[in-house]
Amino acid sequence: MDVFEAISQRRSIRKFKDEDVDDAMILQIIQGGIWAPSAGNLQSWEIVLVKNPETKKKLCEAAYLRDFISKAPIILVVCVNQNVSGDIYNKRGVELYGIQDAACATQNMLLMAHAIGLGACWVGAFNEELVSDLIDLPHYLRPVALVTLGVPDEKPYPPPRRDIDEFLHREKY
Ligand SMILES: Cc1cc2nc3c(=O)[nH]c(=O)nc-3n(C[C@H](O)[C@H](O)[C@H](O)COP(=O)(O)O)c2cc1C
Repeated sequence: MDVFEAISQRRSIRKFKDEDVDDAMILQIIQGGIWAPSAGNLQSWEIVLVKNPETKKKLCEAAYLRDFISKAPIILVVCVNQNVSGDIYNKRGVELYGIQDAACATQNMLLMAHAIGLGACWVGAFNEELVSDLIDLPHYLRPVALVTLGVPDEKPYPPPRRDIDEFLHREKY
């Protein structure tokens, strides 16, 4: 699978087969994440891997009851460590770079999951406080994304994309 094929054929998967995902595959996906670019190579992400059905149910509640979340075999909670991101870059590190680091790692993991035949969805709509409490995050960790992961049980039609001409501005806006 070449890079553009992986990028363009990846879809958000919200229906999973009732099958376990073995740890080796999860680690392969996370391995994809660690090769993401990050500001100053600080790699300011932390990941909490959740398999426990009770915790998944509560994460689903914290994510406004989108029930595919509790049905996913795995949820990765991708967080930014604001102490790390803020250490060198201060406010900009905390408010921007750390979140970008975590987002880059998340996108790499979505692509890696797709490349090895798994499905994933980036979930950003959740109550941060509830999620943080549930998985015991210290105050300096901010949850940025829930990534649901499993064997796909759907093949969604690609949602439309904007035409390049619509947003590409040459030289000046
Ligand atoms: C920052 C971000 C937040 C998102 N939040 C959610 C979410 O809360 N729930 C959800 O079902 N999908 C969520 N998505 C997935 C998008 O809906 C999806 O990527 C978009 O519709 C394009 O579809 P595709 O991923 O299949 O290409 C999110 C994606 C991103 C990048």
